[in-house]
Amino acid sequence: MKDEHREGLLDEKRLFYPPVGFSTKAVVQDPKIYDLGKESKEFWGEQGKRLDWFEQWDEILEWNHPFARWYAGGKLNAAYNCLDRHLNGARRNKAALIFEGEMGDRRVLTYQDLHREVSQFANVLKSYGVEKGDRVTIYLPMIPEAVIAMLACARIGAPHTVVFGGFSYEALRDRIQDSGAKIVITADGSYRRGKILSLKENVDLALKVKTSVEKVIVVQRTGLSANMEKERDVWYHEAIKEAPIVCAAEPMDSDDMLFILYTSGTTGKPKGIVHSVGGYMVGVATTHQWVFDLREEDVYWCTADIGWITGHSYLVYGPLANGATILMYEGAPDYPEKDRYWKIVEKYKVTILYTAPTAIRTFMKWGASYPLSRDLSSLRLLGSVGEPINPEAWMWYYKNIGGERCPIVDTWWQTETGMILMTPVPGITPLKPGSCTVPFPGVQIEIVNHLGEPVPKGEGGYLVVREPWPSMLKTVYGDDKRYADTYWGQFKGVYFTGDEAKWDDDGYFWIIGRADDVINVSGHRIGTAEVEGALVDHPAVAEAACVGRTHEVKGQAVFAFVSLKEGITIHDGLISELKAHVVVKIGSLARPDDIFLTAELPKTRSGKIMRRLLKDIAEGRTMGDTSTLADASVINFLKENVKPKK
Ligand code: WT7
Repeated sequence: MKDEHREGLLDEKRLFYPPVGFSTKAVVQDPKIYDLGKESKEFWGEQGKRLDWFEQWDEILEWNHPFARWYAGGKLNAAYNCLDRHLNGARRNKAALIFEGEMGDRRVLTYQDLHREVSQFANVLKSYGVEKGDRVTIYLPMIPEAVIAMLACARIGAPHTVVFGGFSYEALRDRIQDSGAKIVITADGSYRRGKILSLKENVDLALKVKTSVEKVIVVQRTGLSANMEKERDVWYHEAIKEAPIVCAAEPMDSDDMLFILYTSGTTGKPKGIVHSVGGYMVGVATTHQWVFDLREEDVYWCTADIGWITGHSYLVYGPLANGATILMYEGAPDYPEKDRYWKIVEKYKVTILYTAPTAIRTFMKWGASYPLSRDLSSLRLLGSVGEPINPEAWMWYYKNIGGERCPIVDTWWQTETGMILMTPVPGITPLKPGSCTVPFPGVQIEIVNHLGEPVPKGEGGYLVVREPWPSMLKTVYGDDKRYADTYWGQFKGVYFTGDEAKWDDDGYFWIIGRADDVINVSGHRIGTAEVEGALVDHPAVAEAACVGRTHEVKGQAVFAFVSLKEGITIHDGLISELKAHVVVKIGSLARPDDIFLTAELPKTRSGKIMRRLLKDIAEGRTMGDTSTLADASVINFLKENVKPKK
């Protein structure tokens, strides 16, 4: 959690050493790996060998600041690395994907099964004219077809852009238009807490305007009736029925695009983060194996949705490249009961669980009796991702889920970094509750002050990455300049993460939170500018300013200050109407928890909204410097009238 909640963290002295039985069997047992990682380029050259390449690379890294070409000259295919190369030996009939639906239905696909379905679906895409380089939008629930669709795209070299099923049709439309997608893959609906949400309807709405989309492929998941447009829409099961099962994997240049994934930034327009095949795959395969200490017999469960980078890197590409058995669950953690996750762990004997602090805090609130009534003894490693985990939640997770025997890997990374950059390597790195510990081998991270100078241990500042790393973003889709400015233009020569952090006397890192106008709600990035844009789009709104306020479960929640246009009268339903408007424009994840209507927003004399002061108000804390305000009465009014909730 942010701000003062993380103050005093550097006093955290508890150290947790990996259990002896764990270390002696771990994939990585020798701390020398950190020394090897100091020569990043050679280190990553060595790791490149873990993939199957159609053609060997000429150079490990061609660095033309700020543009990197990793494994330049090499040729490979991501789907081939996730599937074909596992088919020659014992893994052929190993479960690649165990799926559990929210209603309790189940499907298991072996590596051979998955290879067949991916090849067939790749042929379907080809038959609709999808060629290497064409973009494909995937708007699907958490069902096996989502993984199949991603890998089918990768197989033929068509970059996918997965859009989280919780995004509204307008957000979906923006992403379809920005990427210029040729095909949309969706489902008739998705199950959530026993209800059916229609996804196809959103696709229809998104495509009401003219777009580049030629075909919509619809997976039948719920049986909900769908309006099928004659020339445009086809059912997945009908299209795949007769599709041939052989489809050669397209040899891709290492720096060809594998996918685009949109994420929020400081402006209203989400950025299409581009990842390329070679570097990305090396990065996620290496980190997945070492961070999660992967063994052949593991059942690995990452609870993230495929609509986020965690779903891409650590549900699909990393684990499958390593030949793991992945578990995929469709629904909500409290359906039908609050013990659903623990029932799943018990049922499939899950050994590795990777989830988010917001989920852990929710489980804490529900009480330990749910996990404690299930047999969780199969678990041997736990992971956390998406936002800072507070030491209290860490301890709860360690005790009640991990039975004090499972190391916790608190993994820091971003959509842009593609792979985990800071984390313990569980067999060798002692843990501190609340700290993501130290950079992964081969990754050079620093904390700098506002001049870009490294700060000494015990101090804080901006988190930057000093050297390129293999799965770094290639660019922002269609906007090289935005890529260069946002990430490499803040501090000379280094990548700016947007985060603030501290490091302690042992060199352990503690993430404070975002340094920019991005809010982290339940581990999801929301740009304040996007929410403000959605609010001012409402006919009653003149101006809006959003800040993040501390929230017990979600980490942060959106707090919006809104001024209305002249002549608008306030009515009872107005606030809910404004909230609903944000849901339509973006999706329910961006819905403000609080909206406060005010005649004016506090501004500087030059007319800039003072978000810093609004944040103080939303947090209910002492106000910072107000001397640059144009009119102090505005802030005094807010101070007296806003009653922050916790
Ligand atoms: C931002 C990136 C990485 C996949 C999910 C989020 C925050 C992420 C941690 C962590 C503290 C974390 C950072 C980062 N964050 N992991 N372990 N501890 N903060 O990806 O949506 O691109 O968000 O999430 O602020 O910048 P994302």
